[in-house]
Amino acid sequence: MKHHKIAELLKSEHLLQEYTVKGWVRAFRSNRFISLNDGSTINNLQCVVDFENTPEEILQQINVGAAIAVKGTLKESEGKGQRVEIEAQEIEILGEANPEEVKKTILSPKRHSLEKLREQAHLRVRTNTFSAVMRLRSKLSFAVHQYFQQNGFNYVNTPIITGSDAEGAGEMFKVTNFDLNNTPTDENGEIDYKKDFFGKETNLTVSGQLEAETYALGLGQVYTFGPTFRAENSNTSRHLAEFWMIEPEVAFCDLDGNMDLAEDFIKYVLSYILENCDDDLAFLENRVIQEDKSKPEKDRAPMKLRDKLKFITENNFKRVSYTEAIDILKNSKPNKKKKFNYVIEEWGADLQSEHERYLVEKHFKCPVILFDYPANIKAFYMRLNEDGKTVRAMDILFPGIGEIVGGSQREERLDVLQNKMKELDVDEKELWWYLDTRKFGTCVHSGFGLGFERLVLFATGMTNIRDVIPYPRTPQNAEF
Ligand code: 4AD
Ligand code: MG
Repeated sequence: MKHHKIAELLKSEHLLQEYTVKGWVRAFRSNRFISLNDGSTINNLQCVVDFENTPEEILQQINVGAAIAVKGTLKESEGKGQRVEIEAQEIEILGEANPEEVKKTILSPKRHSLEKLREQAHLRVRTNTFSAVMRLRSKLSFAVHQYFQQNGFNYVNTPIITGSDAEGAGEMFKVTNFDLNNTPTDENGEIDYKKDFFGKETNLTVSGQLEAETYALGLGQVYTFGPTFRAENSNTSRHLAEFWMIEPEVAFCDLDGNMDLAEDFIKYVLSYILENCDDDLAFLENRVIQEDKSKPEKDRAPMKLRDKLKFITENNFKRVSYTEAIDILKNSKPNKKKKFNYVIEEWGADLQSEHERYLVEKHFKCPVILFDYPANIKAFYMRLNEDGKTVRAMDILFPGIGEIVGGSQREERLDVLQNKMKELDVDEKELWWYLDTRKFGTCVHSGFGLGFERLVLFATGMTNIRDVIPYPRTPQNAEF
């Protein structure tokens, strides 16, 4: 039996025709009105049951959470709240849901906290909030590919298992098939990775950048979009141990070009959802407004969700050097009054998220691109400036999020790169292939990484990164 998507029927002009829909019961009122949702839209389809002609045993199984098929006629609705409804002729129970069992889950029709929903992450996609977030996530993914494909980028799949630490921060998960209770050791009594599956130490990738660079120096413009892993013990609302990163890399492009690309890209994907996902955005916008009612004024979102997204797409990001930013921070009220947890004393300090948020939310009140950071707080591959102390790095900071993008122009000079690697103790032997690109046709090139979940967080108005990925991986948590 062919069935139609509810999204399609709610927009349909073809009334008085017969259709079949399949979905999950969200509510059943007065033995007569079923609210049916099939995931194709935030909106439910009202199905009106002719209860006098429907067998009692069927009526009894039309419970919240059950999967049903409804065959009937699409009609203009007599009631308020919907344009059309289905007058049901035939109802089939596809998968029952016992009301006593449902009561114990988040499917029960009452307000559940986001924490509670996380505990039942396998069911939360059946709520309005999570179906809206996950549809938006999907549309954003599509927009990401669309942007790069339309602009002549090639999608590359960089390895998930690697031998290198692209960021040099040592936050890696090991990959091994050793029996951990019985690992082979060498003559010095140390673990003998030569005997491991890959014949060397391996880990889950923290970034596809280094491999993407090698591909950019052949294909010209590439991007990755894949999972990355970080074993950083940051239990915050902005960090995941497994997250998806988008990493474009462009040959013959300097830092200014890189900033232009990042800004244009972000504006494109946010415009895409503004144009294509209005129902879900409207729902989430209202959700934030309702949530904010119980919060003190100062903690409320300063702008409505769609206005906030439009603001980003319509205004230029403010580009500020690290040095200027430090001056602003040093002279800021919270710094002078020692309100920051980390008071900024001098040039060279690493910026904490409190500083980033001050710059974006209090000082500039718009997205900020900070560039030319001190070399010694950034990774080994960033291009050294003529001053010898700063590198061509850039971070994009967003209101409510902090860092959403990190990127740089890459060090294309072999000798400078080698010196830097020595200084930071990055193993040249491990990265021989990376250094090769600086020997054979090296050129100016740049790229960045955007944390996809941070983008989804911003686009949906959610506040915890655990609520924008189906099954979050965080310290002490790998359920599902
Ligand atoms: O700033 P990061 O560490 O930069 C890199 O990995 C570079 N290799 C990117 C490049 O130049 N190709 O990470 C990039 C972005 C951050 O700005 C942030 O949005 C996100 O990845 N990110 C995380 N998102 C969620 N959870 C975490 N633990 C994250 N760590 C970084
Ligand atoms: Mg970063």
